[in-house]
Amino acid sequence: MPKTAKAAKAITIPALRARKGHAPIVCLTAYTTPMAKRLDAHVDLLLVGDSLGMVLYGMESTLGVTVDMMIAHGQAVMRGAKRACVIIDLPFGSYQESPQAAYRISARVLKETGAAGVKLEGGEAMAETVSFLTQRGIPVMGHVGMMPQSVRAYGGFGARGKTKAEAKQILADGRAIARAGAFAVVVEGTLAPIAEELTELLDVPTIGIGASVACDGQILVSEDIFGLFSDFTPSFVKRYASLGETIEKAAARYAGDVRKRRFPEAGHCFGVKKRKP
Ligand code: KIV
Repeated sequence: MPKTAKAAKAITIPALRARKGHAPIVCLTAYTTPMAKRLDAHVDLLLVGDSLGMVLYGMESTLGVTVDMMIAHGQAVMRGAKRACVIIDLPFGSYQESPQAAYRISARVLKETGAAGVKLEGGEAMAETVSFLTQRGIPVMGHVGMMPQSVRAYGGFGARGKTKAEAKQILADGRAIARAGAFAVVVEGTLAPIAEELTELLDVPTIGIGASVACDGQILVSEDIFGLFSDFTPSFVKRYASLGETIEKAAARYAGDVRKRRFPEAGHCFGVKKRKP
């Protein structure tokens, strides 16, 4: 690095927490080093989401994701991120049993990856755990509303907050998690007026996904916005690129070149003289 160039400073948890009510917090998911490198300069937070089970591994839900998978992908993302704050999802079954179990897994995730914090799903029922972790120095991002790890209990991935009881529960969940010490709360798949009320209520940032533009930040799955995940695109996703089509076209051109012996050319081989132009 030239002497004059300053290394970009990493964005910290307190810096994100202090963004409540200020400039929106930009978040995306990342699961690999190359993706983290590409996104790092553009976002405030990179989430190593357990959505990787569906997006990278073709699972039908996030329930099959393991701690080892999250650690391997967390390490990969940390190799690529220099500036963005990296948060890692705790997968289903690794933290719900007790605050102590959650502490052991979170400590392992942070030790083995070097990430800034963990994210876990759950509202009032997880408040004791969030409090246990945050009091022991583990930064926690909450996740309320549509919680994909509860897909079996819901019977599907639809939006939450459609009944008065659901709306009341989402507000109580967000409040409980924030009070327990979460530095931010993801609000997923929640009717916009509820996400807006929660954003008003909480003194920590809300990060919306399928929620409301009024949230303090937004997050989406990178593969969704880049058009890389073709199985299913939720209605709340805005596509910013069609990389899936670009890949398919490139693969077809490569296949044609190989079949017609147009690839490799001399320049791609060792010990073959290139023809002079
Ligand atoms: O797993 C994930 O990627 C997430 C975000 C979509 C919020 O939880």
